Amino acid sequence: MNLHGKDLICTQDWEIEELEAVLSLAEEMKAHRYDHLYNNCLNRKTFFMFFYNPSVRTRQSFECAATELGGHAQFLEPKAMRLKTATTPGETVEDAAQVMSRYACGIGIRILEDKISAYGEGEALLREYAKWASVPIISMAHDKYHPCQGLADVMGLRAHLGRDFRGKRLLQVWGHGALVRSWCSVQESLLINTRLGMDVTLSYPVGYDLDPGVIAACEENARRARGRFEITHDQKKAYKGADVVYSRNWMSPQAYREGQLDKKGESERAMGYRDWICDREKMALTNDALFIHPMPVDRGHEVTAEIASGPRSIIYEVAENRLHIQKAILALTMGEI
Ligand code: CP
Repeated sequence: MNLHGKDLICTQDWEIEELEAVLSLAEEMKAHRYDHLYNNCLNRKTFFMFFYNPSVRTRQSFECAATELGGHAQFLEPKAMRLKTATTPGETVEDAAQVMSRYACGIGIRILEDKISAYGEGEALLREYAKWASVPIISMAHDKYHPCQGLADVMGLRAHLGRDFRGKRLLQVWGHGALVRSWCSVQESLLINTRLGMDVTLSYPVGYDLDPGVIAACEENARRARGRFEITHDQKKAYKGADVVYSRNWMSPQAYREGQLDKKGESERAMGYRDWICDREKMALTNDALFIHPMPVDRGHEVTAEIASGPRSIIYEVAENRLHIQKAILALTMGEI
């Protein structure tokens, strides 16, 4: 299998065997963090990290990943780059992508939430970069998908549930909060876990539907993997028997109005659903479920601090896994291995 030069915009674009190669290498790299055979595979190479939106985990873990592989990750922001946008003149993606490809071994891009004017714009930008760049384009979270997070989630779950997810129940549940999050982490989790055969329940209040195309893909993934995928607005029913609970806020399909994110309106609306919180009472309905979350955690809204910091929470393990997963992605798609 040769993954050199391959873009990663969504895990759904990769074969299961290719995802397995990333997961296995990440596990090896975690076990041999400073003495792995590939630890110099980015020697003198640069990975560009192009951030429209802020980040804690993604920026830091990619920087550490490149360093640990003997390379360098360079932080870039669009405001410093004179790029063409829908409303301003400047350099096209065609030109920027081809020039950046002459410098770096790969380009990561993050664009979501208030940096787009309609759902799908971030995805379109990444696909446009992928069309013109001659180096891999890696999503560092965009409006639609967050593949590095989805793989880190799976790596965390495998450590506790084993490699065979069939028959295990994941509850992906909406949580209230003021942060107005994009759909990327949730949609990535739904796609990869239905694909790996987990029984997935998606639960949210009426009015918080996700992308219908992604939902249809999850139904097809579950059918092929002989797992289950169901949607319910009854959260108590949804918690019953879950092996994993993943509570996360996401915006409604009406969030973008007149070409911008209505952050205030979305935030006020979401804060009205105060019962949509992962707490001790609901977790008591589960099969002693693990708690996962991509972070940052909106404590007291999406989940109580007691659960987020409790003995079944694996949020820090998953956050650490971002480093190992991204080292594996960089090594396999850009490294000299
Ligand atoms: N999970 C995640 O992508 O975290 P950051 O937004 O801090 O990068």
